Amino acid sequence: GSLRIIRDAYAGCKDERFTRLHLDHVPVLDEDNRPVAYEAIIAEALDLGYESVMVDGSRLPLEANIAATGKVIALARAAGVPVEAELGAVLGHEAGPLPPYEELFRSGRGFTDPAEAARFVRETGVDWLSVAVGNIHGAISGAAKSAKKVEARLNIEHLDRIRAAVGPVPLVLHGGSGIRKASILAGVKHGIAKINVGTALRQAYEAGLAVSPAEARDRTRAATAAVIRDELEIAGSADRLGVSG
Ligand code: 13P
Repeated sequence: GSLRIIRDAYAGCKDERFTRLHLDHVPVLDEDNRPVAYEAIIAEALDLGYESVMVDGSRLPLEANIAATGKVIALARAAGVPVEAELGAVLGHEAGPLPPYEELFRSGRGFTDPAEAARFVRETGVDWLSVAVGNIHGAISGAAKSAKKVEARLNIEHLDRIRAAVGPVPLVLHGGSGIRKASILAGVKHGIAKINVGTALRQAYEAGLAVSPAEARDRTRAATAAVIRDELEIAGSADRLGVSG
């Protein structure tokens, strides 16, 4: 399957000073709310040597999300592998259009509830928690998939409330493409330890692939360097990676 193909491709190019093989978003329910064989997918990834995994039970009610995350943690602990989970709804991958971004931001729809987050972390012992505080995923289907992603921002006060409730567990920011730079930098200061970027790299890859596989590789590498250097402004990171525009 594709997990093996990705593992093998990664083995051919990895640099363990800077990279890890993580399995992102294994949903418990898919976009149409159909059940996914998430335990089997995660068991396969663990067998293949993936170094961390994410189970996404965010479409479930709290207790069911806790139960599903707990099952994955039991599997992963046996393999010595850390687990990321999500609470709250990082919208954007659902079927059908989203309401206007500002309306979503103002309403706080889907935002992670701090008290729920505290219970979730306490009861699961999860290693990273993905939260929703204004971040949304870029579209992965339809015409919107190639369009410019909305410039999201983050509600930093809400992030502080989550941080205070959950304690030291590292928080993850999904939907990293196109978030305003000031919000990214504030997010990092207020507890974000990992940022997931997809759209900015995928769009470069797909535009390059229309030319050739080599072009896709080059454009993806350039887009990755640009995200690290220009958008995240993490001083010196791009230099340490040895990547350049
Ligand atoms: P974007 O595609 O919006 O950057 O989000 C990526 C992501 O969160 C993958 O988990």
